[in-house]
Amino acid sequence: MLEDLIRGWDGEEIVVGFDEPSGTWMFVCIHSTRLGPAGGGTRMKSYAQPSDALQDAMNLSEAMTLKMAAAGIPFGGGKAVVAVPRPPEGDERRRILLRYADLAASLGETFHTGPDVNTSTADMDVIAERHAHVYCRSEENCGSGDPGPYTARGVFHGIRASVNHAFGSDRLDDRVVLVQGVGDVGRPLAEELATAGARVLLSDIDDERVGVLAARIGAEVVPPGDAIGLECDVYAPCALGGTVNAETIPELRCRVVAGSANNQLAEPEDSDRLRDAEILYAPDFVINAGGVLYAWGTESLGWDADTVETRLTGIGDTLAEIYTRADADGLGTHAAAEDLARSRSS
Ligand code: PHE
Repeated sequence: MLEDLIRGWDGEEIVVGFDEPSGTWMFVCIHSTRLGPAGGGTRMKSYAQPSDALQDAMNLSEAMTLKMAAAGIPFGGGKAVVAVPRPPEGDERRRILLRYADLAASLGETFHTGPDVNTSTADMDVIAERHAHVYCRSEENCGSGDPGPYTARGVFHGIRASVNHAFGSDRLDDRVVLVQGVGDVGRPLAEELATAGARVLLSDIDDERVGVLAARIGAEVVPPGDAIGLECDVYAPCALGGTVNAETIPELRCRVVAGSANNQLAEPEDSDRLRDAEILYAPDFVINAGGVLYAWGTESLGWDADTVETRLTGIGDTLAEIYTRADADGLGTHAAAEDLARSRSS
C-alpha cells in the first residue's frame, strides 16, 4: 500500500517519523522545490491508518505547490501531517511537537511550515524551538500570529468575485451563504459576510461553538447532516476536504462553491461535474491563499499591511481571470486555475 502510494506520486521527497510512546506517525511531503523552498502547514489529525495520513500529506503538499505558484510567492509546496491516535494535550502534546520539530529541522532550509487544521500559533512557538523556518508563531514570540482572519478575508474577496461572475453583481446583501465549519477561518469569514449584509447559514459538528457564533452575528444554524442539500447561493466549505464529490454534487442546491477548505474536490473530475451542473467552483488553492500571502508576505517578503491587503483583494481578480479563461477555453475552473498557476511559475 505505502509502496503503491509513493510510486504513484510525482513529488520530490517524503520524510517519515514514528513516535513510539504515543503511536504517532509523522509524514513530511516535499512536493516541489522548483520555485523555492517548500512551504506548507503542519496538520494534526487522526486517521484510520498511516497510509491515509500519507495520502493526505501528499495531496495537500501538491495543493501547496499550486497555491504558491498561483499566488506568485517564490516558494514551492510541501505539507506535514502529524497523525495522532487521539488529540494530545499538555506535556504529551509538547513532546510530540518537539519530536516532529526535529524531523522538520532535519530538512533544513527545504521545508518551511506554519499552522493548519488542529495546530495553533502556540504550537508553532513549540516547533520553532527546534526548527528555524516556522511561520505564524504567536505575536508575543515575534511571530505574525493567527493567519485565519487573512485567509478569511481572501475567501471573502473570492466569494464576491464568484458571485459577480454567477449573478452579474458582487452585492452580497441579498445573497444566502452557507459556511460549513466555523473554525479559525470559517468564523471570521462568517463575521465578514454578516457585516456585508449576507444572510449567513452556519453548520458545524460542534453545537456549542456554532450556536455562540450564530447568536453573535445573527446567523441561522443548520444541522451538519442537512448542509449539503441546502438551498443557498454560495456554499462555502471551510472544514475538511473532499465534501464535493460524485455523490454530493447531484445533491447541491447552490449556484457557487467557494470556501477555504483545502482539497474540496474528491477527484479532479469533480470540477467538470460541477460545470455540468452549472455550479461555479472557486478553485480552493486560489481562493484560500490569503493565509499564505499574509504569513509569507509579512515574514519573508517584507510586505507592509497595505501590500498584504492589496494582495488579498487580488485573489478576487485572479478568480475573475480564471472564470474568463474557463469560459473561453471550455474548461472546468480547476483546470483553468492549474493553467494559470503553471503560467505564473514558468
Ligand atoms: N494551512 C495553510 C494553508 O493550507 C498553510 C499556511 C501556513 C498558511 C502558514 C499560513 C501560514 O494554506
